[in-house]
Amino acid sequence: MKHLLLILLLAPFLFAVDFSGIWVSSIKQPDGHTDREVFVLKQTGNQLTGKVERAWGTLNIQEGSVDGSHFVIGAKTDDGYAVGYDGTLAGDKLRVTMHEPNAKTFELVAARSTTDPFLVEHVIAPPSVRDLPPNRLAKTPPMGWNSWNLFAGKIDDKTVREMADALVSSGMRDAGYIYLNIDDTWEGDRDANGVIHSNNKFPDMKALADYVHSKGLKFGIYSSPGPYTCAGYEGSYAHEEQDARTYADWGVDYLKYDWCSARRLYPDSAMRAVYQKMADALRATNRSIVYSLCQYGRDNVWTWGDKAGGNLWRTTGDINDTYRRMMEIVDTQSAIAKYAGPGHWNDPDMLEIGNGGMTPDEYRTHMSLWAIFAAPLLAGNDVSGMTEDTKSILLNKEVIAVDQDPTGMQGHRADKTGDVEYYARPLDNGDMALVVVNRAEASMSIKIPWTEMHIPPGTKVRDLWKHEGFAAGDSQPFTVPAHGSLMFRMKAPH
Ligand code: GLA
Repeated sequence: MKHLLLILLLAPFLFAVDFSGIWVSSIKQPDGHTDREVFVLKQTGNQLTGKVERAWGTLNIQEGSVDGSHFVIGAKTDDGYAVGYDGTLAGDKLRVTMHEPNAKTFELVAARSTTDPFLVEHVIAPPSVRDLPPNRLAKTPPMGWNSWNLFAGKIDDKTVREMADALVSSGMRDAGYIYLNIDDTWEGDRDANGVIHSNNKFPDMKALADYVHSKGLKFGIYSSPGPYTCAGYEGSYAHEEQDARTYADWGVDYLKYDWCSARRLYPDSAMRAVYQKMADALRATNRSIVYSLCQYGRDNVWTWGDKAGGNLWRTTGDINDTYRRMMEIVDTQSAIAKYAGPGHWNDPDMLEIGNGGMTPDEYRTHMSLWAIFAAPLLAGNDVSGMTEDTKSILLNKEVIAVDQDPTGMQGHRADKTGDVEYYARPLDNGDMALVVVNRAEASMSIKIPWTEMHIPPGTKVRDLWKHEGFAAGDSQPFTVPAHGSLMFRMKAPH
């Protein structure tokens, strides 16, 4: 009797489930790649600690608890990306619901595993750092198109060919948008010799590159110095030279190299050396390949990006198709203007123009400021079906000419009065470009203080959105719509 009572009292402990251990969920995607979610858990009483790993990085468990066979976890990356998990142990499997920050939920099933598929035990030491000479590419900021902003994981061979055709027929190529860059999710498996192959969305990468070249365009591709890319596809870690040779064989002219899962292997202080490694590998192919660093502006990349062989480097986290995010990025660009120049550019991320999340006035502000910042102009929209508004923005040759100005000096915010901001950029031949932004939520009448800006009355001014000229000092106040802007080019008095 006494024993029975004891057993009843201890039952929850005797039969309690122990979640401790490694749990792996593997989901094969239609393109052939496998998405993995790995739970490394330690249970103490009803508390859960440990981490959740994704191909691109680690989420540390902030709070985790167990109630019988149910569990709840809150986990976060070190830069604040937070995911919630809850679920049940059913038989020998974990049935999990994931709650992403964008309110989307996903179901997955994880099984016990003796090994962690994301663990890299002996990390390859990066090379010692040296100053690489310029590769003489990207004398002006690269222009082109990139698949990520609109197509993301849905990009495939057919869409790339359609975009190549449309870059030509829309006049984008002739306006300077030369690089057609495939972003993440093209990667397939490595073969027995370690050679990377494209996945089933891209049956023949060399043939695709040939097609893109036949249209008078250049061909760009994407990888990561980590074992996996940000979308969880195969990265170039431990295969840098081999991948560079494969890219050169395919006819690649541009590589975007995205930090992603490298952060699990290396501290930020190793970034320069890690990026240099791929720069060396690209140069060893003897093909001219523009090298785009993508590590979100960490470790003051603008101070070393060119020495690591980069032609451009992202200065921020990702853009999205909102005015708010676009302007958040704008606000961080002026302070680093002096680091840009021919061959090595600050990259505030790709264009969202034409993707539908901003008004035409906001997109004009986007284009005007990217030109003031001498930013790479990589369109991110469907160029096969552009509205007249989108075309008039992306194809504004006078604004493009500011972006592509041969002196390559990046502009900055020169003044701010209430909601009105003035951005200035010195141009070739003593010319100057000026963008006036109305950040208010309502339209505004703005009188430009020409004299205070040392622009003498009578100076010839060209309105780059209206495509007409006038003389400084003569103009009436301008009505600038909410979030809209004006863009002028002033001729130097000769
Ligand atoms: C990161 C980059 C993006 C894009 C995605 C692809 O988020 O910053 O520009 O390349 O990865 O996964």
